Amino acid sequence: MTPTPFPPIELATRVGELYGADFVLYEEIGRSVRTEILALLPPGWTFDGKRVLDFGCGAGRTLRHFLEEAEVGSFFGCDIDGPSIAWLGSNLSPPFEVFRNEEEPPLPLAAASLDLIWAISVFTHISDHWAAWLVELHRVLETTVCLSRRPSAPASPKNGPMQRPIRGRHGEGRSSTRPTESE
Ligand SMILES: C[S@@+](CC[C@H](N)C(=O)[O-])C[C@H]1O[C@@H](n2cnc3c(N)ncnc32)[C@H](O)[C@@H]1O
Repeated sequence: MTPTPFPPIELATRVGELYGADFVLYEEIGRSVRTEILALLPPGWTFDGKRVLDFGCGAGRTLRHFLEEAEVGSFFGCDIDGPSIAWLGSNLSPPFEVFRNEEEPPLPLAAASLDLIWAISVFTHISDHWAAWLVELHRVLETTVCLSRRPSAPASPKNGPMQRPIRGRHGEGRSSTRPTESE
């Protein structure tokens, strides 16, 4: 199997320190976020036929760990950062469908067209339009859960679980522990 490519270092470091010249931590954070997302999904969830958005995906630190699921579901990624979206578009699309969004809503998506949205360490970076973005994510979400969190650094004992579903229209959010990382 061909290894999943890593983005240029400047795109990786704009979403978090690498603490070294390699991508070990980048990969570890993405994988641990994936685990936490899966743990928050309702019992019986499958990705078959689902439409999923990684809101504020950067260069795909989390999205890159959903290649297998993207064979059975539709995975979208969006971000305001043009170079990150361009890199994803050239390297991991397909299977992911990516687009650059503006600083303010709307997204170019129909109402109730998504089953799952996650936003990893994104709302901590939105100072002016966060309420409008929450309304917008609610607009495009049909079922299940929208997850908003900051990633925990896997190796750090000070970082507990950080799971904060922000809404569930027909499904369930299952945790409300507070974020503890300052990314
Ligand atoms: C700390 S990075 C996290 C990136 C990615 N979620 C991850 O975990 O690797 C924050 C990201 O939010 C993006 N962002 C900030 N405001 C945004 C907005 N209004 N819409 C979409 N993305 C936004 C930034 O461009 C950046 O890529």
